[in-house]
Amino acid sequence: MLQQSIESTTDRTWPQEGWTRVPFWVYTDPDIYQRELDTFFYGPSWNYVALECEVPEKGSYKRSWIGERQVVVVRGEEDQIHVWENRCAHRGARLCWKNKGKEESFTCPYHQWNFALDGALQGVPLKRGVLRKGGMPADFDNAQHSLKRLHVHVEGGSIWASFHEDPPSFEDYSGPEVMRNLQRQFPGKKLRLLGYNRQKIDSNWKLYFENLKDPYHATLLHSFLITFGLWRADTQSESIPSASGHSTMVSRNVGKKKSEAAAEITRFKEALELHDTDTVTPKPEFEDGKVIAITHFPSVIIHQQANTFGMRHVIPKGVDSFELAWTFFGYEDDDEEMTRLRVRHANLYGPAGFVAMEDGEVLSESQLGAHHYGHRAAVVEMGGKDVEAQDHMVTEVLIRAFYKHYREAMGL
Ligand SMILES: [Fe+2]
Repeated sequence: MLQQSIESTTDRTWPQEGWTRVPFWVYTDPDIYQRELDTFFYGPSWNYVALECEVPEKGSYKRSWIGERQVVVVRGEEDQIHVWENRCAHRGARLCWKNKGKEESFTCPYHQWNFALDGALQGVPLKRGVLRKGGMPADFDNAQHSLKRLHVHVEGGSIWASFHEDPPSFEDYSGPEVMRNLQRQFPGKKLRLLGYNRQKIDSNWKLYFENLKDPYHATLLHSFLITFGLWRADTQSESIPSASGHSTMVSRNVGKKKSEAAAEITRFKEALELHDTDTVTPKPEFEDGKVIAITHFPSVIIHQQANTFGMRHVIPKGVDSFELAWTFFGYEDDDEEMTRLRVRHANLYGPAGFVAMEDGEVLSESQLGAHHYGHRAAVVEMGGKDVEAQDHMVTEVLIRAFYKHYREAMGL
């Protein structure tokens, strides 16, 4: 029997097999979902919010999300980056109603309290009343009523924020393996924004992280990756779990070729040809020859595949739905040909991407399979039962390592 029965549909005891099982209630229970928001997104974590190149000048801003809370990322008076909650310090109304723009200050539409770029309250209309009546008490101190500011860290042009009063360092939170691969892709060169995609996927938000901790599905589900040699089980690869629920998947682009391993896989389509092979023909870029996907828990997946770079921002919308906001980018010093290839290869991804389209579909189907089956559990035994790094991709080790971390953090 593949799926173990758990006796009660309301029991939240983890199956006795441990991290080789994932009870389906983690995808369907609204109380668990609320605890996840508090524990991960609003807890001692670092969350991706924007790229520096999206807020290029003083006063440039972008609205973003951490969990279900909206924040605004602003470039301040002295070029530093501020991140504050998008809710007025007065009555809680949303201050900023646009996705992107440029302002000298922010005024709440409701009672017109005015805030500086760094979130400091600088003006309260009718503060002294009208005709000596009304107004704020004499001891009202603007300095006590700024917007809620978050801790900010900028890593090679990517912007991260934390709600926690005393968060760990970004380096400690990310761990050495993830830091090394982040700095490989974000070496401090200026970034260039290339475009956006957005989609809503009707599944629990964690299933998206699991999709990017599951190199094995990509060798079976995605005809485009297998057939054109962008991601295949028979290439030299690595699956590396890291601190805080993060992980790294490493592979190589090998081009279209039939091999024994590929021939076994039904989605290798020998007859499938492209009239224009540009989309599947990367130009070698990194000296190590690797393609890498980093899952930085709980907010983002960072991909480098062929010549596309993308931030896949995960924004939960309830227990059974999330928004996936894709930001495609390159380096400011890329030549015209490289920029063209980065944009061309972005066709693999996003809601209608030749590859990513299939993930949206299978994740929605997985959620339907979890719905009302909280008392059953998924099996994750591919590649063994342990949680250590492996030098291949035919494995679910990253999912097991993730649930080891998840159970500890959530006390489950
Ligand atoms: Fe996939």
